[in-house]
Amino acid sequence: MALLNPDEAKRLAAAKALELVKPGMRLGLGTGTTAAHFVDLLGAKVAEGLDVLCVPTSERTRTQADTYKIPLSTLDATPELDLTIDGADEFDPQLRLIKGGGGAHLREKMVAAASKRMVVITDASKAVQTLGKFPLPIEINVFGAEATRLMIIRAAAACGCQGDVKLRRIPSGGPYVTDNGHYIVDASFGAIPDPEKLSTALLEIPGVIEHGLFIGLAKAVICAGSEGIEIFG
Ligand code: 5RP
Repeated sequence: MALLNPDEAKRLAAAKALELVKPGMRLGLGTGTTAAHFVDLLGAKVAEGLDVLCVPTSERTRTQADTYKIPLSTLDATPELDLTIDGADEFDPQLRLIKGGGGAHLREKMVAAASKRMVVITDASKAVQTLGKFPLPIEINVFGAEATRLMIIRAAAACGCQGDVKLRRIPSGGPYVTDNGHYIVDASFGAIPDPEKLSTALLEIPGVIEHGLFIGLAKAVICAGSEGIEIFG
């Protein structure tokens, strides 16, 4: 197979995932550049008459899907979904993920949890043996954000994770605010030796809304690279 750049690989994975979509399905639509390829391809199918109902995981994805006139719903109106297709920042051999590079992991996790099946689409650069090279996004409450940040540092250290925990900022310097009106801190741990332990510890901190570790949610990962497509799970 010809050498693919990461964007071509993302589109290839998205095209493979499209084969899983059947008429009448209720779909969760992820967020990010890979998920955007899936929305593009799904939009073309909808234009040809495919009947689906979709719940987007971000305002960005909602806007994109709207341009294709993909029938859209909300998780309140459609609380049970058949399939969610989403990207990831990292996945490990147990299909545990880091997500939230695009700041949408709270809605992404809620939508994935409401789905019978979550299938992840990635390029080959997202495969890792140990999660944590990609900084872990953690959505936190605006109130007491600095106190929460310090608690995260202490809780993570007790789980063997050390490194910078930085408030995410927009280019003009202000804090990044999620679709849900919260802040995000990005935790550069380098490696997360026990993702389950860290997940539990982070969720015990009152100011933490949700972190980007997805454990037990992905049923399969469609990973595309220059060797072709590999399906894990
Ligand atoms: C957004 C996400 C994305 O799925 C993740 O950041 C991967 O993005 P991309 O497909 O652009 O590489 O979790 O919150």
